[in-house]
Amino acid sequence: MCGIVGILGNGPVADQLVDSLKRLEYRGYDSAGVATLEGTHLARRRAEGKLRNLEKLLKTSPLQGHIGIGHTRWATHGKPTESNAHPHATARVAVVHNGIIENFRELRQQLEKQGAVFSSETDTEVVAHLVDSYLAIGASPEDAVRQALPQLRGAFALAFIFTGHDDLLIGARKGSPLAIGYGDGEMYLGSDAIALAPFTDTISYLEDGDWVVLTRNSAVVRDELGVVTVRDTLKSGASSLVVDKANYRHFMAKEIHEQPEVVGHTLARYVDMATEQVAMPVTLPFDFKDIQRVSITACGTASYAGFIAKYWFERFARVPVEVDVASEFRYREAPLRKGDLAIFISQSGETADTLAALRYAKSQGLHTLSVVNVPTSTIARESEVVLPTLAGPEIGVASTKAFTCQLMVLAALAVAAGKARGELSAEDEGRLVHGLVEVPRLMAAALGTEPQIEKLARDIAKRQDVLYLGRGTSYPLALEGALKLKEISYIHAEGYAAGELKHGPIALIDENMPVVVIAPFDRVFEKTVSNMQEVAARGGNIILMTDAKGAAEATIESTVTIILPDMAAAFTPMIYAIPVQLLAYHTAVVMGTDVDQPRNLAKSVTVE
Ligand code: AGP
Repeated sequence: MCGIVGILGNGPVADQLVDSLKRLEYRGYDSAGVATLEGTHLARRRAEGKLRNLEKLLKTSPLQGHIGIGHTRWATHGKPTESNAHPHATARVAVVHNGIIENFRELRQQLEKQGAVFSSETDTEVVAHLVDSYLAIGASPEDAVRQALPQLRGAFALAFIFTGHDDLLIGARKGSPLAIGYGDGEMYLGSDAIALAPFTDTISYLEDGDWVVLTRNSAVVRDELGVVTVRDTLKSGASSLVVDKANYRHFMAKEIHEQPEVVGHTLARYVDMATEQVAMPVTLPFDFKDIQRVSITACGTASYAGFIAKYWFERFARVPVEVDVASEFRYREAPLRKGDLAIFISQSGETADTLAALRYAKSQGLHTLSVVNVPTSTIARESEVVLPTLAGPEIGVASTKAFTCQLMVLAALAVAAGKARGELSAEDEGRLVHGLVEVPRLMAAALGTEPQIEKLARDIAKRQDVLYLGRGTSYPLALEGALKLKEISYIHAEGYAAGELKHGPIALIDENMPVVVIAPFDRVFEKTVSNMQEVAARGGNIILMTDAKGAAEATIESTVTIILPDMAAAFTPMIYAIPVQLLAYHTAVVMGTDVDQPRNLAKSVTVE
């Protein structure tokens, strides 16, 4: 969460800071701020709410400094108010921070005893006062930061500027990502390569514990022990173009509609279309035959992709799979077998819990494979194998195209595992790959349900609760459907395994409860129909998502039936994801919520 940027420029940097913050807004958008060195003093402009409020403020109160830092915030400590917005500053130093300073209370008490006066409720402000306490007794900025850093517990990426130092920017990283950008007589710091893309494509990533002292013509990196070290520079490849909405009203709508194309690109990376065989783009550093258990770890939507993949791995490769949400996995001390495989799934590649789980699995001697959408991300860089999703930048907070691309990669990997373990014959492989090859076309057909869903959304928008039911791979998709609706429409929704209904949730059913049943005509269809009967018998409103065969076989009057194309049963989640996403999207549009930046959420959750 939170995006940070720092610029040592040769002209006024306020506009550049804002430009960079626009690219980081996916990390947080409840307030934003910049600070620049204006001659002999540090000046700040901060504004509650979206970045456009800061832009307006900068128009009426411009800044001229050639060196500055900026921040876009997702609140952890303290409400999203102007006084809690970053940068935090004293007369001598200004700082922006991404992460959490866990020991901020004790540091604050200690600093207050020494006379520091705090003006925010944030954990970050202690960093400014701590550094300031050393500057006050004559330490140089480098020395002050060097002495302060070991006292900070928690996760942080920090950028500092100092009064009286117009050629100095200091950055530090522990747990939260930070990149250095090398310009022509200019230097930059940013949370990721995308933030720096308008200025430079030459970057290097700081490693955990590193801190860097930048001038316009030099970068001196020190590791945790204070030893001067060199971090590789690379060409970031991040596009400097700001992704736009094309003709769509929201990024989410655009991203839903892009799915046939980007899932098609992803497919082409993982299968050989001509021979209808799986073709991993990298040689896997393990043999699936030696893997006794696969553990899949992720958060939110990515975890549901993992949950669907569990069904595929177990069925195609006959290998047991455990799926965990990362925040649980990292603390539950799961017994892991050295040499087994741990898979991590993440759109951003920066999710703090998923990253911590990856590091834990590595420490236990597991092979680590990540399915990520941002190839330069920390999770990608720290994994033994990276299988990229080719979704392109996903801007809407609600994950859509990244999810279906994750499914495509995981499906191909599960087929590869089945083949390697001798569980799938060449014929099985051909049949499954053929099923995958059809997915983009079927997704395009599924988008044809939009007018019907738009109409349905007008009714859903009047409801307070919605249930989603599914069996088999449609069960995790039911969980995803409920998550999608909750996060952007703020309507309460729950996903359940259809067979679990009578064990409790059936008590919720009445004529006001819409029940979305995801039921392609597969081997568990009959069972799901029985569960639909139970809902119908209690007056529930059924919205059935099925195919033509399912619609013909379902003997119940459903309130609405959404008919998806006929297809091979195994890969239905990629197709059924479309109406599920569209329903959430159109409901949110009817409700008038902020679809792309829903309240309280951030695209990339870089704190635990
Ligand atoms: C999805 O709609 C969510 N906004 C969220 O659950 C997301 O999938 C989760 O935070 C994981 O993010 P990641 O894929 O970037 O790791």
